Amino acid sequence: MKSQFHEDFYSFAKYYDIAFDFKDVPQECRFLEDVFQKHSKSHLNSFIEFGAGPALHCLEMAKSLQSVTAVDLSAEMTTYAQDKAAKAGVVVHCECADMIKYQSENRYDLAVLLMDSTSYLLSNEAVIEHLRSVAQILNPGGLYILEMSHPKSVFEISKSTASEWEMEKDGIKVKIQWGSPSDTFDPVSQITNVSLKMEYQDGERVGTLKDQSPQRCFTATEFAALVAASGVFEIVDWYGAMSTGVPFNNAEAAWRMVPVLRKS
Ligand SMILES: C[S@@+](CC[C@H](N)C(=O)[O-])C[C@H]1O[C@@H](n2cnc3c(N)ncnc32)[C@H](O)[C@@H]1O
Repeated sequence: MKSQFHEDFYSFAKYYDIAFDFKDVPQECRFLEDVFQKHSKSHLNSFIEFGAGPALHCLEMAKSLQSVTAVDLSAEMTTYAQDKAAKAGVVVHCECADMIKYQSENRYDLAVLLMDSTSYLLSNEAVIEHLRSVAQILNPGGLYILEMSHPKSVFEISKSTASEWEMEKDGIKVKIQWGSPSDTFDPVSQITNVSLKMEYQDGERVGTLKDQSPQRCFTATEFAALVAASGVFEIVDWYGAMSTGVPFNNAEAAWRMVPVLRKS
């Protein structure tokens, strides 16, 4: 099944949450707070995450911040995140909206886009429109931190790979295959048609879902050029992982590209 942003896959929000339950969310939030402290002169009170999915970082941030918003284009993810926040007893405003054209009356100190959700911004126009809409809802000096694929992946086009893993929680088993060796990469658009396969076993409910959507990868220099072209942000730092101890370079430990943008 072909989709725009793997929406069939993300509609199984609970299974996504189980399959991706390997991140150290509190540690990643401390990283975001440390970077904010380093680069912003203001105090961190408000936080917004785009492509938030189950909104785990929002739930963690909402324990200490005054205002937290999770934005996702999947209605199922939005409902799932809202329920999860209610069960956790924290206040997170969950909104089903497109991050490309996002508008709000609210203002935030820190915005984030994690887990390579930037890959769903397929064109340069979409990236610039998104950056301008994020800048509009940030307070002066506010930061935008993105966790993107490392550019190593752009230059590994002859080695199309599949990542496979299996997770189990509360008796529910979820097995993911992200990507397939037969996925096609277009070096002109830098877009891969990424196949996903999810097998789940949830009591009597057993099934397999297949989904395929375009995802774009970025080099560091082109992303810097897009930020400059947006005219609304400057890049003040780069990291190679969601950790202040990992510089952005070609070392093995640097497996992500994490640019830190400050509103101009
Ligand atoms: C890889 S998941 C990341 C979820 C979460 N941030 C995490 O760290 O686990 C990507 C998310 O981006 C959402 N998404 C894709 N395109 C979007 C768009 N244009 N606007 C808002 N959300 C979008 C998907 O629905 C999905 O929940």
